[in-house]
Amino acid sequence: MRKRALFVVPEASAGASLRALWAPLSDEWELAVVATAAEALSCLGTSPVDVIVSDMHLTGMGGLQLLAEVRRRAPRVICIASSACAHRGLILSALEAAHQFIPAPFTAEVVRAMLVQTGPSEAPLMEESLRTVIAGIRTLPSLPQLYQELVVAMEAPTASAADATRIISQDMAMVTKLLQVVNSAFFGLRRTIASPAHAVALLGIDTVKSLVLSVQVFAQFDGRAAMPIPLESLWRHSLAVGRSARDIAKSRDIGSIGVEGAFMAGLLHDVGQLVLVANFPGQYGEVLEYARNQRVPVCAAEKALFNATHQDVGAYLLGLWGLSNAIVEAVAYHHDPEAHLREGGRWRPFMRPMQWRRPPTLWPGRSLGYVSPVLHLLSFLPLCRLPAFTS
Ligand SMILES: [Fe+2]
Ligand SMILES: [Fe+2]
Repeated sequence: MRKRALFVVPEASAGASLRALWAPLSDEWELAVVATAAEALSCLGTSPVDVIVSDMHLTGMGGLQLLAEVRRRAPRVICIASSACAHRGLILSALEAAHQFIPAPFTAEVVRAMLVQTGPSEAPLMEESLRTVIAGIRTLPSLPQLYQELVVAMEAPTASAADATRIISQDMAMVTKLLQVVNSAFFGLRRTIASPAHAVALLGIDTVKSLVLSVQVFAQFDGRAAMPIPLESLWRHSLAVGRSARDIAKSRDIGSIGVEGAFMAGLLHDVGQLVLVANFPGQYGEVLEYARNQRVPVCAAEKALFNATHQDVGAYLLGLWGLSNAIVEAVAYHHDPEAHLREGGRWRPFMRPMQWRRPPTLWPGRSLGYVSPVLHLLSFLPLCRLPAFTS
């Protein structure tokens, strides 16, 4: 069944050029174009929409107000804000209501890149309620000590990009959010944003300070709900996997972009688990109990109770937030990389063939956490050789 994209563009000429460039996509995507927020809401009420792209400057109800209303009425819809004015402050405010921002005018390249990034609609069977929760996430919980350290560092008159990078790059929640922001602010560069340091350098220290202190895009774990896996364990595991992935990648001669990509994929690989334990602590406790009692891997227990694994959940969120294909793929398949070959890439219909190489058979045993990160490393390292990291 074709997916449906709804564009809200006030100028008739922009709508006409959008229809013209849509032809090559029409086998997979149905296009609807309207000019006002009222028409968009009426359209949404008559038939389901997968993605809505709204200009921010509509007359009457503004574009962001419209997207906020769409998220309220149909939380699963992927919301994208657009404007010809790609001012940094405007983009930050757009991400309050939208999952991503794309620049106008629309070119074939922009539209194609956007649809690639809406891969979450390709996600395997995932309960509507779970999709809704993920689509509603604005921040992920950061380790409180790191969050406080970042706030203090950014409040200091001597705040530097090096301080910001050092702190942010230790925390999967902060890195994920930073990449969402920078990928929207520098749409088109997302394939080459290689590291937290690169992301901080692109944004500049003043923007990073404002993200932390004014816009508050990061959030510390409030600690009210007891998590079935302590946040500190998840944090320690993700950082250890990220660092080890970087070490392995360095030894494989895949270039600096590949090395930093391996670090980010390692750091973020279990972000789906963070989403699940933070949003469904009770149910995730049952997952762990089920895995223990039935003696099955955690992924199998997640599948039994959520009808989705933490791979699916993490990849869905990262795709929704516009992270690069390579990281989304690494997260989506980190427990079963060969599934990518079997399935032909369920997440990214437009992806070029992967430069697949079988992983090495063994990594010298190192115990880095409560699960074997060795398996993860062996799994996703080849995925970090995707064109997005190597070209
Ligand atoms: Fe893991
Ligand atoms: Fe995992």
